[in-house]
Amino acid sequence: MAIHECCAISKDAKLHKTVEVYFCTQISGNVEVGENTVIGSHCDILGDVKIGKNVRIQSQVFIPSGTIIEDDVFIGPGVIILNDKYPPSKGKHWRPVTICSGASIGGGAIILPGVTIGENSVVGAGSIVTKDVPASCVVIGNPARIQSAVVPKDRLGMERY
Ligand SMILES: CC(C)(COP(=O)(O)OP(=O)(O)OC[C@H]1O[C@@H](n2cnc3c(N)ncnc32)[C@H](O)[C@@H]1OP(=O)(O)O)[C@@H](O)C(=O)NCCC(=O)NCCS
Repeated sequence: MAIHECCAISKDAKLHKTVEVYFCTQISGNVEVGENTVIGSHCDILGDVKIGKNVRIQSQVFIPSGTIIEDDVFIGPGVIILNDKYPPSKGKHWRPVTICSGASIGGGAIILPGVTIGENSVVGAGSIVTKDVPASCVVIGNPARIQSAVVPKDRLGMERY
């Protein structure tokens, strides 16, 4: 495990020994992180969060309690995941976000509370995702709409980055 300078990792966090966390990232609460996952600098990962294997999280990403990120997901820089529909509800209106395996979230996207991003789907940079995204779709815009119903094969998998 490689934890770079200025990180704050809570004692309750369970990070696989192969995980790498870059500078000044905060991981607090019961956060689980799977094998071979890399978390960039200046991220906040808070509360009960599950992050799978081979996930790539770029810098300045906010991930609140309840979020589930499955294996092989890519999260671009500055992505904000939200969990409180009517803040500050102190948990009353918390609706967790799930990002399914192989999905790719473009830089600066905002994922609203309760949304599920389907397997292998792509969220365009800067999109605001207000509703569930089916599997293998590309969505863009505010509110995010389907741009194409099938992700071309050459875009699937981490190698496209
Ligand atoms: C969503 C995405 C995959 C679409 O790529 P593409 O299918 O090649 O799309 P194109 O570039 O051909 O654009 C097609 C149309 O969608 C629009 N578009 C593309 N991406 C968009 C976005 N993120 N938001 C809004 N509109 C977008 C284009 O303006 C174009 O519109 P037009 O038909 O009116 O001219 C890509 O634009 C994107 O956002 N990738 C994520 C990049 C990123 O955040 N990387 C993070 C690591 S650096």
